[in-house]
Amino acid sequence: MSMITLALSKGRIFDETLPLLAAAGIEVLEDPEKSRKLILPTNRPDVRVVLVRATDVPTYVEYGGADIGVTGKDTLIEHGGQGLYQPLDLRIAKCRVSVAVRSDFDYAQAVRQGSRLKVATKYTSIAREFFAAKGVHVDMVKLYGSMELAPLTGLADAIVDLVSTGNTLKANQLVEVARIMDISSYLVVNQAALKLKQAPLRRIIDAFASAIPAEKN
Ligand code: PRP
Repeated sequence: MSMITLALSKGRIFDETLPLLAAAGIEVLEDPEKSRKLILPTNRPDVRVVLVRATDVPTYVEYGGADIGVTGKDTLIEHGGQGLYQPLDLRIAKCRVSVAVRSDFDYAQAVRQGSRLKVATKYTSIAREFFAAKGVHVDMVKLYGSMELAPLTGLADAIVDLVSTGNTLKANQLVEVARIMDISSYLVVNQAALKLKQAPLRRIIDAFASAIPAEKN
């Protein structure tokens, strides 16, 4: 019996993956919010869950530290997706990547062709591509969290960050001025594992596919 290792990150992705796992007959036996364990057993002796940072899920699956994983499109784009089979858009953990600025900042004026903009973000690839297409020169400041602080402290003119309800922006007196792309989470699979553990992985992929939430309009 070969072991299947699934990489998940704590929080929304973990929570919203549970119903998909249930459809595959897999139940995680410990609550990551209560346990300090990084390897969680399931009801299936041949399936285990490893908890990794959201940005590390594609890396674990790429190098075979995990056979499969669930990761946001944002994280997948920043990683590059090399070496990963991406069979399913799971349509969970939906949000968007947007540009936000202080409400007193004139964004329209700042992004006229040929202008310069100071952008703080953890999503440097997505931000670079978006502003390059507009002909805006960007001074990029790479951050790893709390992006909302950057325009408030003068570190940057704008941020590129995930927006879900918009509450975080509102609480920090920032406004969303451009929507770059819609985000959801994807199933990613290690390419070698897909060959070596084909039958059990296929069963999980098919069960996930059958349990993807319907598209809401
Ligand atoms: C994201 C993002 C914002 C927040 C937006 O952070 O960075 O801070 O969610 O959500 P809202 O529009 O509903 O307020 P997340 O909780 O994913 O954690 P992170 O800060 O570690 O990225």
